[in-house]
Amino acid sequence: MSEDGKMLDCLGLTITGEEVQRWDELWLEDLSGARRPSDWGPDFFKPCRREGPVLEQFREENLPGIPVEEMADLRVLEIGCGLGRLARLQLGSAPSRYVGIDTSRLAVALARGRLHGYPGYEFCHSVDDRDHLQSLRGEFDLALAVSVFIHLPPVRAAAVLRYMAEVVAPGGWVSADVPVDADCQTTVREQWKPGETWSVVANQGDLLWETMHEAGLVDVQTHHTLARRAYVVGRKP
Ligand SMILES: C[S@@+](CC[C@H](N)C(=O)[O-])C[C@H]1O[C@@H](n2cnc3c(N)ncnc32)[C@H](O)[C@@H]1O
Repeated sequence: MSEDGKMLDCLGLTITGEEVQRWDELWLEDLSGARRPSDWGPDFFKPCRREGPVLEQFREENLPGIPVEEMADLRVLEIGCGLGRLARLQLGSAPSRYVGIDTSRLAVALARGRLHGYPGYEFCHSVDDRDHLQSLRGEFDLALAVSVFIHLPPVRAAAVLRYMAEVVAPGGWVSADVPVDADCQTTVREQWKPGETWSVVANQGDLLWETMHEAGLVDVQTHHTLARRAYVVGRKP
């Protein structure tokens, strides 16, 4: 960390110690308050279900546009993995490798505990594990970010997408979601402190679409899901 409290993360972004701490605090508030994540409860550390309707629903809601036949033995890198919610669901499709990255140390610690003992799963902190994460190039079939780009201003979104494009192998997928209705944007904005204008970004769908092209991705398509989200999915040539 530099003297002014700024740090460089694996995505090439400069972030402050305060921002890292704020994500920890947001998770703490969510876990102890009314906005508890759907997967927070007595089953949080229980073994994962590997098949059935949960997996099917997960695929429909979180991996639209990616053919089921290409999901076997997938190598997945997830930006903003949070508490490992998707990692746990993805166990059903048995990816051969999974790397989750988050800026909240609390989230990384909980996700590590949750998936402890599952081979091939790794959770990393975007700043503390930067060198390792920057060495990952062309090693994944899918780079995924769920409920993350809504928190990124355009300049950050571009850097994150460049990183996602770099970590996937030729033919690999890059997928990120955005909420598609105004109500959802309002809800997210309200959980932030006033003045944090970067926390919710308008027109993210268009931005993602353009930025994926700028990052050299092809076949970029938008897929709407039932959960009032749209996924923008591109492919590395
Ligand atoms: C709304 S949560 C979504 C968590 C998870 N993807 C899910 O759907 O359950 C957003 C996550 O993105 C993380 N995050 C925000 N900015 C980030 C960045 N620049 N790099 C990595 N993670 C980031 C936050 O710490 C938080 O855990």
